[in-house]
Amino acid sequence: MELNPLPGFRDFFPERAARREYLFARWRESARRFGFEPYDGPPLELTDLYRRKSGEEIVAQLYCFEDKGGRAIALRPEMTPTLARMIAAQGASLPKPIKWFSIPQLFRYERQQRGRLREHFQFNCDILGESSVEADVELTALLIETLISFGLTAEDFSVRVSDRRLLSAALEALGISGGEARGRVFAAVDKLSREPREKVRERLRESGIEEKAADDLLDLIGSRDLAQFAARFETVPEASERILLLQRFMGLIECMGLRGFVEFDPTIVRGLAYYTGIVFEAFDRKGALRAISGGGRYDDLLENLGGAPLPALGFGMGDVVLSEMLTERNLWPARLDDGPEVYLVLVSETLRPALLALGRRLRQAGFRVDYPLASSAVGKQFRAASQRATAAVVIGPDEWPRGLVKIKFLAAREEKTIHISEIETELHALRLRRAQAKPRGTS
Ligand code: HAM
Repeated sequence: MELNPLPGFRDFFPERAARREYLFARWRESARRFGFEPYDGPPLELTDLYRRKSGEEIVAQLYCFEDKGGRAIALRPEMTPTLARMIAAQGASLPKPIKWFSIPQLFRYERQQRGRLREHFQFNCDILGESSVEADVELTALLIETLISFGLTAEDFSVRVSDRRLLSAALEALGISGGEARGRVFAAVDKLSREPREKVRERLRESGIEEKAADDLLDLIGSRDLAQFAARFETVPEASERILLLQRFMGLIECMGLRGFVEFDPTIVRGLAYYTGIVFEAFDRKGALRAISGGGRYDDLLENLGGAPLPALGFGMGDVVLSEMLTERNLWPARLDDGPEVYLVLVSETLRPALLALGRRLRQAGFRVDYPLASSAVGKQFRAASQRATAAVVIGPDEWPRGLVKIKFLAAREEKTIHISEIETELHALRLRRAQAKPRGTS
């Protein structure tokens, strides 16, 4: 019997589960600070939902099969089509803008590589029903603040921003037009961060782009200077309009004090098919890892699904790359595990009724309580207590009949005898001291 999980899948033993809980807690807290509400959807959808909307790359990675009712279904590889489907079905009645977040587990049959697994958890934040660039700014700010909440700084990561419509206008000006050619160019350009320029040039040539146009395009998008773009496309109205929009975006980001986190990078086009406007990806500045997060506008997706037209934008942030970054930067909080606060030590098995009553009383008061489930030596009980709990409360045959217990503060190796009516007060004080001593990041 194979005891390991499938390739690209993870078991979450408590240490890894505690890290995941920490990511989720920070993610939820960030979304809430920006006024986003949680939502969720089913992990299985009709395969068609992705075939039509996500683009070739992701469709090739689908875990899909036929269910017992003969439907072609797939495990969700991303959340956006589900969200779009939900809003297309019921969004008309919801007050706008809709600001929702979710933390789905997603499944993609990827080639195994660093930072890419076959399942991952992804923090998704989306705004629907707002076409102003202020919404793009708000979403980008949420992405940045989320990463800041983990202790990352502008020296650790940057958000690279571009605009698909600007690139389309630039392609048109370079003589590359037609939706199909554009799609192929986007797909080739999207690989620039992973493949050498020569390889991308080859791809462009293979998709029918003239040599000169391919070189011009690669030179153009190699520049990260928005002003240079503006000068080059001064006479192309659609491009100038989009450059103005990007400049406004940068100006508003600056007002928030976040300009140092954001850069213009026209090589960002995103791999998914449905994006229509400003797009962005967050990267480790050291550059070794794949994108931490990516997103953008998808103003046509709802209408394409058969819903009423509704502007939309969002991002997804995966747990895998982010976790690697926190490990590399040594940013995991020292203490993640919220183990028991108090361990009840039983000196004599005859006192088990007292232990059970006290255990229930403390749990009802909201404390995390553990105790031995079978008769065991006192020394062994203390070892169990020291491994995870903060305090041990000793129920002994001399003290208990007099209404007393010994409380031991395990880290400080101090102990005192108290009346059982004082236990809650003592444990509250201990919790407070522990919270004050906790490193940044734990909750
Ligand atoms: P995506 O770029 O495919 O976008 O994924 C977003 C992030 O999820 C990536 O930057 C990466 O951190 C993580 N991720 C993706 N695939 C894997 C994988 N196989 N293993 C580990 N991590 C992975 C989307 O999925 C869009 N639906 C995001 C979005 C939301 N756009 C608008 N709203």
